[in-house]
Amino acid sequence: MPRFLEEQIEEVRQRSDIVDIIGSFVKLKRSGSSYVGLCPFHNEKSPSFSVSPARQMYKCFGCGAGGNVITFVMEYENYSFPEAVKYLAERTGVELTQRDLTEEQKKQASLRTTLIEINTKAARYYYAKLKSPQGKVGYDYLRERGLSDKTILHFGLGYAGQDGTEMYRYLRQQGYGDDILKETGLFKMDERGAYDKFWNRVMFPIMDISNHVIGFGGRVMGDAKPKYLNSPETKLFDKSRNLFGLNYARQGKRDYLILCEGYMDVIALHQAGFTGAVASLGTAFTEQQAGLIKRYAQEVLLTYDSDAAGKKAAMRAIPMLRGVGLNGKIVHMEPYKDPDEFIKALGPEVFEKRLSEAQNSFFFEVDELRSGYDLADPEQKTKYYHEVAQKLLVFQDKVQRDNYLEAVAAKYDIRREDLRELVIRYSSRMPEGYPESSRADTALKSSQKKEERGIGYSYRLLLSWLIEDPALFRPVSERIQPEDFIEEDFHTAAALLYQQLEEGELVPAKIINHFQDVESQKMAAQMFQTDFQAKMGPEEKEKALNELVIRIKEYSIDHRIRNLTDMGELQSLILEKKRWQAPEKLHISLKDG
Ligand code: UTP
Ligand code: MN
Repeated sequence: MPRFLEEQIEEVRQRSDIVDIIGSFVKLKRSGSSYVGLCPFHNEKSPSFSVSPARQMYKCFGCGAGGNVITFVMEYENYSFPEAVKYLAERTGVELTQRDLTEEQKKQASLRTTLIEINTKAARYYYAKLKSPQGKVGYDYLRERGLSDKTILHFGLGYAGQDGTEMYRYLRQQGYGDDILKETGLFKMDERGAYDKFWNRVMFPIMDISNHVIGFGGRVMGDAKPKYLNSPETKLFDKSRNLFGLNYARQGKRDYLILCEGYMDVIALHQAGFTGAVASLGTAFTEQQAGLIKRYAQEVLLTYDSDAAGKKAAMRAIPMLRGVGLNGKIVHMEPYKDPDEFIKALGPEVFEKRLSEAQNSFFFEVDELRSGYDLADPEQKTKYYHEVAQKLLVFQDKVQRDNYLEAVAAKYDIRREDLRELVIRYSSRMPEGYPESSRADTALKSSQKKEERGIGYSYRLLLSWLIEDPALFRPVSERIQPEDFIEEDFHTAAALLYQQLEEGELVPAKIINHFQDVESQKMAAQMFQTDFQAKMGPEEKEKALNELVIRIKEYSIDHRIRNLTDMGELQSLILEKKRWQAPEKLHISLKDG
């Protein structure tokens, strides 16, 4: 992961005025000292999203989203921290130097940059060709397939000419040598010379999530074979880690992505308004792609072709989706082959309806299983029951498994008690660490819930309180020091905040920059915008603040006691803790503050 110099990150943040940047994505209206608008992170009709120019922070009072300009871009565009910094640097003209790169890494980075540049030039060339008289055959083909000029431009579709060396000659003339052109995957090279891999095909540029062209697919305009040719894997193009259309599908918040098989399906769906459509790249769906989707949506609607191969592909994809904790559903395209043909025949409304009727992927799997057995034959029927029971073991959560068991028994007319007995039998044989569906997810959620009530929540409350009301800093800092925040990220954040408050220069947005990995970043952003009871009266507030201080102090003392190496200190720590348990003298009064 690229790392940037901290001063540069801070420069990027300072130059990226939060009102300007957010204002370019969200309509903002001035309201007192801040700006308000409709929150881009949840659906709402009246604005609860507020941007503070003084603090350079945003916050949504509806859904709790909040942070600085960098976290906004991360959330809105689904960028990682370095991606967001890069994006803002480009917008504001800050030059970033990457540190910690070895010579070899620098070489690779510059190779990638050059390959992107070449692919971009090639894509522009194909597009220009499509729009030229020699490209008419390609243009007519795409128009005939129902694509508008706008869609063709949006996806940058093009045409590779009839001549088999045109692209090669063009790129040579642009100054690229054979060494680098060999790495692009656009050419076949041998002793006799270099030839374009793609000719007389309509061209589909493949982009990564940052809209860089990393490869191409090319389709013949008829029934010749192979129907599609694709760029080979290169230093730039890793098929297992990219999805066609994801650069568009990733924008904004989505409940689901639509996973289909073909380039044309994605394009037809986007054109019809289903902009969450993506496809794997002429290869089978991979675990990495499942992980990639997980960054952008919770649910995947699978629209695989309605033939045997499509069903098989869906059967392979479902466990992978489950494996990363995604909920998969099957959209049936019958009587059409794929989404492209479906939409063309029945239109977007009927397609929308099909989406809403998507089938639970577990039932789809059981249906598929069932079709492999002759249930009139007792032997086969027994085998089928066993298979279903084994299948049920993918649900580790007992309640979830029981619910599925009930549903499957009822739906497929299997005796519930028999099925239950089989499940128990198989589950006792299940090896340790059996790969599980939503287990990790559930564990994560419950640990997050616990954290809400845990010490982290107290830390967040105190830090946000100090930011809301810096006058509290003096009395609080006499009682709580940064060392009392015993979790690493909180400790760092508290130390930075204390420093700012001591110097009388409060810029919470700057503190967030300090955390570079995505999780800590989000955590840090949250740290500063935890709602404490704004509705509390002054007395309640005073009581809450003191309880908070005592809680944090006690936790810190307990922590020190647990990690004590010098037993001589034990006595003094116990005394200190006692003092905090009878805290009259330590009481902070909000009235004199
Ligand atoms: P399909 O054969 O289902 O084609 O391949 P399609 O998407 O319906 O294409 P149209 O509508 O006839 O134009 C699905 C996907 O599989 C890959 C391509 O990515 C294609 O979009 N594929 C297919 C290949 O890579 N090579 C091929 O020869 C065929
Ligand atoms: Mn098709």
